[in-house]
Amino acid sequence: MPSPQVITIDGPAASGKSSIARLVAARLGGIYVNTGNMYRAMTWAVLEKGADPADADAVRASAAEVVLESPVYEGRTQVCVNGQLLGDAELNSDPVNRAVSLVARVPEVRRRLVAEQRALAALGLLVMEGRDIGSVVFPESPAKFYIDASEEVRAARRRAQGHQDQVAERDRLDSTRTTSPLVIPDGAMVIDNSHLTLDQAVQAVLDKLPA
Ligand code: DC
Repeated sequence: MPSPQVITIDGPAASGKSSIARLVAARLGGIYVNTGNMYRAMTWAVLEKGADPADADAVRASAAEVVLESPVYEGRTQVCVNGQLLGDAELNSDPVNRAVSLVARVPEVRRRLVAEQRALAALGLLVMEGRDIGSVVFPESPAKFYIDASEEVRAARRRAQGHQDQVAERDRLDSTRTTSPLVIPDGAMVIDNSHLTLDQAVQAVLDKLPA
């Protein structure tokens, strides 16, 4: 089997997949791509324009005007909206936490970001994490992972990160939307991260990579 060019890591909110993906990318010399930040950037831009995130037509119209770029810096992609580099303060703000699942269910937003994500493969080895990476964005990848953790552990992680986030509600919306819901991709290796240390979880992914 050829070495994978994209390692896909999906899972629910706060399952630990971002930390795992970042370290797996560092260990392999690949580029880490956090696709949740792309949906968050789009959401931030939609809110900046004053659009109601629950109104799909308004989201579609304001998202169409957004210029989104993904420059690579220090081994990971950043998100740039209309020329402005966004940081943690914008991407993880409470309003964005509340609205992101609404924006992410709009098919036109997804189509656009999926195309952007596929184009990143030209950069070299990617470790890309999200909700639909193994199921929709790169279904042919031979290295697909699904990182799970119990709801209690995930809610506690979000609180420890200082976020007032309704993880369960976000998961409900992400798993029940019509377009590309969160699923365990066909052929994905499932890792339960409820009781693993970060090192153990990273090692579990590395151990399961096709040679
Ligand atoms: O990974 P995260 O929790 O930062 O993602 C934020 C939201 O973005 C998540 O609730 C659903 C959406 N998302 C998505 O729909 N598809 C992806 N590939 C990544 C994130």
